[in-house]
Amino acid sequence: MQASHVRLIKILFVIIAIKLFIVLVLFGYNNSVEDIPEQSMVFIDELLVDKSDEPSWEQRLALIRKEMPSFPLEELHRRPLGEPKCGKVPAALGIDFSNDYWQTLNNANLTYHIFGAYYDNREKMIEAPLVRVLTMINHYGKRDVVKHPETFCQLWFRNRIEPVVVNVTDYKIIWIWGGGSTMVYPTLLSCCLPKTNDTKAQEAPEMVSLVTKRCDKARNLVRVVYEPDEASTAVTYPPQQQSKQNNSTQLQKKPLRFMVCVKAMDFIYKDLSWRLIEWLELMRLLGAGKVVFYDAQMHPNMTRVLNDYMETSPGFVEDSNSDTGSELYRELVNDCLK
Ligand SMILES: *[C@@H]1O[C@H](CO)[C@@H](O)[C@H](O)[C@H]1NC(C)=O
Ligand SMILES: *[C@@H]1O[C@H](CO)[C@@H](O)[C@H](O)[C@H]1NC(C)=O
Ligand SMILES: *[C@@H]1O[C@H](CO)[C@@H](O)[C@H](O)[C@H]1NC(C)=O
Ligand SMILES: *[C@@H]1O[C@H](CO)[C@@H](O)[C@H](O)[C@H]1NC(C)=O
Ligand SMILES: *[C@@H]1O[C@H](CO)[C@@H](O)[C@H](O)[C@H]1NC(C)=O
Ligand SMILES: *[C@@H]1O[C@H](CO)[C@@H](O)[C@H](O)[C@H]1NC(C)=O
Repeated sequence: MQASHVRLIKILFVIIAIKLFIVLVLFGYNNSVEDIPEQSMVFIDELLVDKSDEPSWEQRLALIRKEMPSFPLEELHRRPLGEPKCGKVPAALGIDFSNDYWQTLNNANLTYHIFGAYYDNREKMIEAPLVRVLTMINHYGKRDVVKHPETFCQLWFRNRIEPVVVNVTDYKIIWIWGGGSTMVYPTLLSCCLPKTNDTKAQEAPEMVSLVTKRCDKARNLVRVVYEPDEASTAVTYPPQQQSKQNNSTQLQKKPLRFMVCVKAMDFIYKDLSWRLIEWLELMRLLGAGKVVFYDAQMHPNMTRVLNDYMETSPGFVEDSNSDTGSELYRELVNDCLK
């Protein structure tokens, strides 16, 4: 009788202990649940909208130019009034854009994708001065062998209503990788400016359109890039900037003018390190300020060459593999989209 009594008390004690434990656990759990809304309760007494000022017209133009470097919006806005007798500058909405970077021209059975245009008046060029238009064409036009349909450049000069219209005289394939009907080929078109007696001093046109008939209304328009050498640009600095520029450290640091991007380096087994050095030194001699690589598995000896360049000539060689994701892929298959 006494023993069963003690056992009963023991069992009761155990039950009470378990209940107490459950109550404690529940209490703790409830407390933690109640904590959450307290923490997330934040009082906002103003709307978190962007209150920065809108950019000025000049700032907007600069922003647009950064996004669409080859589209001559500023030049379009300062065109002189009046209709040319031959051709017509297209309106911004009358351009066949493919996207921010490319405009399209259909010429006979070919499609030209227009990327940019560059004024070339280098002394050693016999044809100079000329405007070179960089395009991708869906036709492997072997230079001087395959004929392209007739194409004209309408060259638009600052403050002049009439364009200068010239034939496209040369189609230079700039990256030879063989044929293939579904591909497009980087092709450099030459539009020679008419010769005058002092050709080299001739003014550069500010925009160019490609057309299939001499006086067609164009549906494309790109800025003609012309960046004369440093000696003449230095003169154009505004006065305040020039005094800042008068600082030996800043004078030594020339702005990057010419950069070379290399497609993904994919030489896993073949050691081309000696060719790489030769090529990099050639780039340096030709005036390249920077060479950008994408290391897509190189022979270890080639990686060593690049690492050595990055150490000994910082800034000259850059390895772009630090970028990640699809952005990198887009860049490495497209050379130079940065
Ligand atoms: C365009 O036509 C020419 C001649 O008819 C032909 O040689 C060429 O392959 C054609 N190009 C394309 C991209 O179809
Ligand atoms: C330019 O095109 C015209 C016809 O449109 C042609 O008569 C002339 O020979 C061409 N000039 C050159 C240099 O190809
Ligand atoms: C170019 O020079 C020649 C003689 O050197 C002269 O006869 C001609 O008129 C000049 N042309 C122009 C456009 O100045
Ligand atoms: C600018 O640099 C030149 C020489 O490099 C020096 O003679 C001149 O005093 C400098 N001017 C100023 C404002 O520092
Ligand atoms: C030159 O510019 C650098 C950085 O822009 C600055 O640190 C330095 O003090 C300047 N030197 C002179 C002499 O103004
Ligand atoms: C180049 O690679 C080979 C094989 O890995 C190696 O034997 C050789 O030492 C390397 N050359 C240099 C200069 O490191």
